[in-house]
Amino acid sequence: MSDGPLILGIETSCDETGVAVVAGLDVRSSVLASQTEEHARFGGVVPEVAARAHVEAIRPLVHEAVRQAGIHPGDIDAIAATQGPGLVGSLVVGYAFAKSLAWSLRKPFIGVDHMEGHLFAPRLEHAGYHPPAVVLLASGGHSQIVHVRGWGDYDVLGSTIDDAAGEAFDKLARFMGLGYPGGPAIDRASDGGDPAAIAFPRALRDRPFDVSFSGLKTSVTTFLEKAKAAGDVPPLPDVAASLQEAIVDALVEKTFNAVRETGARVVAGGGGVLANRRLRQRLAEEADAHDVELYLPSPALCTDNGAMIAAAANFWFDAGRETPWRSDVEPGLKLG
Ligand code: KG4
Ligand code: ZN
Repeated sequence: MSDGPLILGIETSCDETGVAVVAGLDVRSSVLASQTEEHARFGGVVPEVAARAHVEAIRPLVHEAVRQAGIHPGDIDAIAATQGPGLVGSLVVGYAFAKSLAWSLRKPFIGVDHMEGHLFAPRLEHAGYHPPAVVLLASGGHSQIVHVRGWGDYDVLGSTIDDAAGEAFDKLARFMGLGYPGGPAIDRASDGGDPAAIAFPRALRDRPFDVSFSGLKTSVTTFLEKAKAAGDVPPLPDVAASLQEAIVDALVEKTFNAVRETGARVVAGGGGVLANRRLRQRLAEEADAHDVELYLPSPALCTDNGAMIAAAANFWFDAGRETPWRSDVEPGLKLG
């Protein structure tokens, strides 16, 4: 069943090579080459390692996505790739590959904003998700609260003034020796823990939509160093649940401030941090309390993937966008 243009989406902004074939909003195939293991021993993403891994992964992955979708390359209506924001060396690999493929197949090429991809991701599973909406975007590189007035019409209401939420999870997990990536590690470590065991501070209470996590990092590390010196370190699940609660509290509070401010009746989320179980639970509770609809992608569509790039390109294809061949990646691209 084909209910829209057939789009090949390529995502290479950071450390995941993602390729997908999407027909309308129907995901025909979505494949991923994750570099987590290559970066784990460095405790974070190393740009040169990432770019090289994309170069190795991209060709076989595009073949695999086309094969799994059961299509011929000639059936594709448009080819899309992430233009930015992201690591320049990583972006270039997917962007140049997509442009040359589109050129050789004589198909339109569409450059997509990575964050806009995250905004569209919930549509792949929830046909009822439409703007106006407030969308929480939280990943390793970004934390933003966006008012989606319409597709293509975005107002970034708030962002982090220092570390992104995922970065805070990653740095704290590294300090606690839990490995990389830190978000899933803390999520798991929090099992059975008491989120109220330790009262870590909540920053920027006086600003309605912005968040800040660098103070939390200092407060957790200082707390743990003192506790260790005193020989009185609380159980790991309590520490993990408490610091997770501080991050989740900030994200949920600011998201629903935006809901009250804009009057939006729809809330959605995207980015790796939205895979966090406690965050999903708290957003669901708050959505219930505010009587708004909540659309969260399943965890595999929260983290970076090619399908979300194709989903955003699907909108721009219908709007007639063709990104010029001479265009280049934009590592500092800003939404709206
Ligand atoms: O969107 P994403 O895959 O890549 C970026 O664009 O950054 O997000 C990756 C981030 C990492 O910081 C990772 O620790 C975090 O998302 N993350 C989580 C969870 N799963 C991934 N954070 C909290 N809880 C999780 N379950
Ligand atoms: Zn992302």
